[in-house]
Amino acid sequence: MEKSIKDVAFLLLLSFLLSILKNSTAIDIITTTQILRDGSTLVSSEGTFELGFFSPGNSKNRYVGIWYKKVPNSAVLLVLNREIPLRSTSGMLKVIEPGHLVLMNDTNNVVWSSNTSRIAQTPIVQLLESGNLVLKEANDDNAENFLWQSFDYLSDTYLPGMDFGWNSATGVENSLSSWTSNEDPAPGDIIFYLDPTGYPQAFIKRGAVTIYRMGPWNGLRFSGAPDVSSTFTHTLFMNKSTAYYREDSIDKSVISRATLNQSGVIQRWVWVDQTRGWVIFLTLPTDNCDTYKMCGAYGTCYIGNSPACGCLSRFVPKDPESWIKGDWSNGCIRRTPLNCQKGDVFLKYSNIKLPDSQYSTYNESMTLRECKVECLKDCSCTAYAQLDINRMSGCLFWFRDLIDIRAMSSDGQDIYIRMASSESDSKGKKKILTATLTSLMGVVLLGLSLMLYFWKRSKRKKNDPTGRTGGSHSESRNKHLDLPLFDLTTITKATNKFSIDNKIGEGGFGPVYKGMLEEGQDIAVKRLSKTSMQGLDEFKNEVICIAKLQHRNLVRLLGCCIQGEEMMLIYEYMPNKSLDLIIFDQTKSRLLDWHKRFQIVNGIARGLMYLHQDSRLRIIHRDLKASNVLLDADMNPKISDFGIARSFGGNEIEDKTNRVVGTYGYMSPEYAVHGRFSVKSDVFSFGVLVLEIVSGKRNSGFSRGDEHLNLLGHAWTLYKEGRLLELVDAYLCDSANLSEVQRMIHVGLLCVQQRPDDRPSMTTVIAMLSNEGVLPQANQPGFFTEGDGIVNEGTTSTNEACSTNEITITKLEAR
Ligand SMILES: *[C@@H]1O[C@H](CO)[C@@H](O)[C@H](O)[C@H]1NC(C)=O
Ligand SMILES: *[C@@H]1O[C@H](CO)[C@@H](O)[C@H](O)[C@H]1NC(C)=O
Ligand SMILES: *[C@@H]1O[C@H](CO)[C@@H](O)[C@H](O)[C@H]1NC(C)=O
Ligand SMILES: *[C@@H]1O[C@H](CO)[C@@H](O)[C@H](O)[C@H]1NC(C)=O
Ligand SMILES: *[C@@H]1O[C@H](CO)[C@@H](O)[C@H](O)[C@H]1NC(C)=O
Repeated sequence: MEKSIKDVAFLLLLSFLLSILKNSTAIDIITTTQILRDGSTLVSSEGTFELGFFSPGNSKNRYVGIWYKKVPNSAVLLVLNREIPLRSTSGMLKVIEPGHLVLMNDTNNVVWSSNTSRIAQTPIVQLLESGNLVLKEANDDNAENFLWQSFDYLSDTYLPGMDFGWNSATGVENSLSSWTSNEDPAPGDIIFYLDPTGYPQAFIKRGAVTIYRMGPWNGLRFSGAPDVSSTFTHTLFMNKSTAYYREDSIDKSVISRATLNQSGVIQRWVWVDQTRGWVIFLTLPTDNCDTYKMCGAYGTCYIGNSPACGCLSRFVPKDPESWIKGDWSNGCIRRTPLNCQKGDVFLKYSNIKLPDSQYSTYNESMTLRECKVECLKDCSCTAYAQLDINRMSGCLFWFRDLIDIRAMSSDGQDIYIRMASSESDSKGKKKILTATLTSLMGVVLLGLSLMLYFWKRSKRKKNDPTGRTGGSHSESRNKHLDLPLFDLTTITKATNKFSIDNKIGEGGFGPVYKGMLEEGQDIAVKRLSKTSMQGLDEFKNEVICIAKLQHRNLVRLLGCCIQGEEMMLIYEYMPNKSLDLIIFDQTKSRLLDWHKRFQIVNGIARGLMYLHQDSRLRIIHRDLKASNVLLDADMNPKISDFGIARSFGGNEIEDKTNRVVGTYGYMSPEYAVHGRFSVKSDVFSFGVLVLEIVSGKRNSGFSRGDEHLNLLGHAWTLYKEGRLLELVDAYLCDSANLSEVQRMIHVGLLCVQQRPDDRPSMTTVIAMLSNEGVLPQANQPGFFTEGDGIVNEGTTSTNEACSTNEITITKLEAR
């Protein structure tokens, strides 16, 4: 007893001593009585950031910089004395009364100073956990009272928590400027800055030349810039005297940075681990189409076209001769000139990056309808668009030629451009109508009209036992809907009167038919079963979810048909049906060699990442499985069936439900057992799908001998024994790249780990799949045995597989 007390006392003493030792080695403040000399460093309280002296590249000059302490050989994130290097290693950083941070050389001359005008009683300098070096009153942590902060003097790097923009009240303008060279951190000729004129946009310039424009801000992001909202929350603060952008990591443990390099490229990095190091997850400008003004006025750039530049529809090249030669600088003009007196109209152009708004005006409270009226009144108003697509309010007006437009494959916006009234013919209208799937306005109107419709329907049922409605009803709705409405006769004709021969499957809420429109386009029609109340919910959910989404790996909704009792959704037709019909079929599985499967896995991953990232409403699919992945003519995967998908607000991470819906075998343990779902439950389903695609075996229904292992358990066992390749579908052996195969199975196992937090995000999954480098160890999967709370009918299967050393066939014994 006595001994153990002594032990405890000793341990306490030891930990006390250690803490002193720790504190004495890592300090985060400098007081007026202290000096930080070249060779020593400041370390922020949790050890994330470090400040010290360094020499860039081969230079002998000394600078004071801040970098990530946790990252070996971290890039320097911020340099204090960018333009005024020290020539020797005898520099000192000091705080002097009444409140200056100064850098001195060995003759005690001040080389650099924070040059603060405010004073403090007891000034200290502290390196905060955010990476911000602040000069402040010793006991005052209020950020508003800081005398000086390094976050007001950015170098070439943006870190979460920094303000990017300007503040006319404080006179601070925060922009990034590239280093002059790898040896010289002095500002180079490239800058990246927030321009508040008109409506806030961000520009990259080389000298006086604009290279790239991002924006205008649309309430969710800068128009035309990729969505990063799965990793960061971001906002634009704006009033008469300030406008600045701020981003914060959702997961505070993520180490990231954005840098402006010397070629004028913004690269966004995340630190993954020792072996993989920094990974670039985003580069801006993305491609040629991001080149500022690339296609001239009213030109639009689409990277999939050759040449990439074209005129917006109903516009023609201003100077056809030079246009043909590839000089697009003169842009395009309306094929029918405007005639303001005769009454112009506004036509909608969808899925674009909004044009330069430097000379725009805006009104934050107007509705889109009011915008139109306002813009129509003024003959010089060339176009308008919704100002804030998050709150769906406000107007942004253009008065000059529209420049720097590009077509977006996802996350584009709508703009309404002034046109001669004769351009609004019916043909044009129809075209526009079908090109507006992503319009948020449409979704709300649609949601409202659907609600109205369901309400009327239930009311009518009471009054009219036949429940039939006239055609006029749907026509009137047509005017308000942005989602194209097909009429019942068209669909009936297209599907051969819903003939049994045209039936191709059973969806979440009813049968699915193949059809062909008169124009020859193949379609798939999902018809809501009249009896299904749950189907009705799923129908609404699907419309609301998918109408907003557009991505090449998501199935595309072409429109809907609501007439009388009939409710149908019309999709593009997928000739190769669903993935399960191929990978689990002995014969058909040969259609998909390794290369194709690798592409399919990547495509599904990208589609899922898009869902998880979509910032308007992050979407959790909740029912990802092989039968919900459709394949187009080129075997590109498209995720379908959003009947039970859930959308999430900005910061929500997890939700809980009492009604667990989904498919056993693909459900994560926390969802199946506790009803908790998050993006990580989709990641789990994705992991199961990956293992199924690689093995050609279903997770549920798989069993190996008497061990009662399902596919996950089987994969886990092979993983622990280092025999991963035995999992692979025998047919793949010839085409497979074995290291790719191993990597993919490993990633699959990381996705199905028991603990949601251990599972990677889809962004990480994509990086992992496409990169070399060592993956983290996988922990035990959730639900890896048959008895694990999930009942499956245990069918037996034999598995023939590739072996590790040579490509031979091993037969696993199975009963
Ligand atoms: C220290 O700085 C002063 C002023 O900038 C300069 O004149 C002097 O030469 C420097 N001393 C050394 C040793 O670099
Ligand atoms: C900074 O120093 C310069 C001259 O070295 C001076 O003109 C300027 O007013 C100072 N700024 C502040 C905020 O003290
Ligand atoms: C604008 O915002 C800044 C920072 O949020 C605030 O300090 C300032 O008082 C505001 N100005 C006006 C005119 O609202
Ligand atoms: C800047 O980044 C781009 C794209 O990653 C790269 O091609 C270019 O070489 C980089 N420039 C410099 C100077 O590092
Ligand atoms: C915005 O529009 C509303 C409604 O038309 C109007 O009352 C308001 O004054 C406008 N605001 C500005 C700043 O023009």
